[in-house]
Amino acid sequence: MIVVTGATGTVGSKVVGGLRERGAAVRALVRDTGAARGTWDEGVELAAADFADPASLDAALAGADAVYLLVAVHPEMGTHERNVIDAAVRTGRRPHIVLHAAAGIEQRPEGVRFVAAHVAGHDHLAASGLPWTVLAPNGFHQNFLGMAQAVRGGALALPGGTGAVSYVDARDVADAAVRVLTTDGHQGATYTLTGPAALAHDEIAAVLATAAGTPVAYTAVAPEAALAGMLGAGWDAWRAEGMVELYGLYAAGRAAAVSSDVEKLTGRPARSFAEFVAEHAQLFA
Ligand SMILES: NC(=O)c1ccc[n+]([C@@H]2O[C@H](COP(=O)([O-])OP(=O)(O)OC[C@H]3O[C@@H](n4cnc5c(N)ncnc54)[C@H](OP(=O)(O)O)[C@@H]3O)[C@@H](O)[C@H]2O)c1
Repeated sequence: MIVVTGATGTVGSKVVGGLRERGAAVRALVRDTGAARGTWDEGVELAAADFADPASLDAALAGADAVYLLVAVHPEMGTHERNVIDAAVRTGRRPHIVLHAAAGIEQRPEGVRFVAAHVAGHDHLAASGLPWTVLAPNGFHQNFLGMAQAVRGGALALPGGTGAVSYVDARDVADAAVRVLTTDGHQGATYTLTGPAALAHDEIAAVLATAAGTPVAYTAVAPEAALAGMLGAGWDAWRAEGMVELYGLYAAGRAAAVSSDVEKLTGRPARSFAEFVAEHAQLFA
């Protein structure tokens, strides 16, 4: 039995679908089973649990042979990863934990809270005695779907400076995860999942312009201005500050490395940003 956490989200939903295509026994850990019903075929078991509730995790992980551990971005995300790992230990079955972390985890950057939470989760996992694998994806292509309105208006304004980022498609992350969960030989490995190239945000804007049918101008926003903009738009401070920290990493060129791990795991090249944009051309036009 493979338990998938974060199962209703961008990556987790695709992991559940991919595992079912391979005929695996899958249990989706969700907060609301009623809302999740009908998302996948009836062979997918649904387990109601909350990362903050250890007893619910014990029930959801019972009988697990492997766990895809993906937590949401949240002030308690480090504790949430820890809670799932501790529940996995309590099963007594030593399930293989595939930790969905973030690119840069191996460099342990200072002052980037989203990555720091995954570093803490990784260290807890390594000390747990459970067999583990880490997937470390870079920023997702899908993040740009939320910027479609601005792109249609000809603008891409981000605190990304001039740094290039090897953004990856969330579908490739899910395909890589399915491969790791259904084949042997991955224990102790950290796979860095990126797209096939690193693009600076002005190059990203140029690709988006091909779909928008209008020029898209990239503005490198100062971190303080970006933070003020997010707070003004109603973001909570923890998340907004975290985004500025992450874009600081991007601006410094520290998310530009390109890895071949997607291709190694899936047997085909990672999807490019241009392919992703072409598939969503209607949204950006
Ligand atoms: N976005 C990026 O560019 C990027 C890049 C690299 C790494 N990451 C990492 O990827 C992860 C996010 O992945 P994603 O974008 O696929 O997530 P997502 O779409 O935001 O989905 C989050 C999932 O977590 C579930 N969830 C939230 N709070 C929960 C709780 N208290 N208990 C149980 N389940 C809960 C949600 O379920 P509900 O349906 O109940 O809300 C949902 O299924 C984060 O760890 C992030 O650091 C993101």
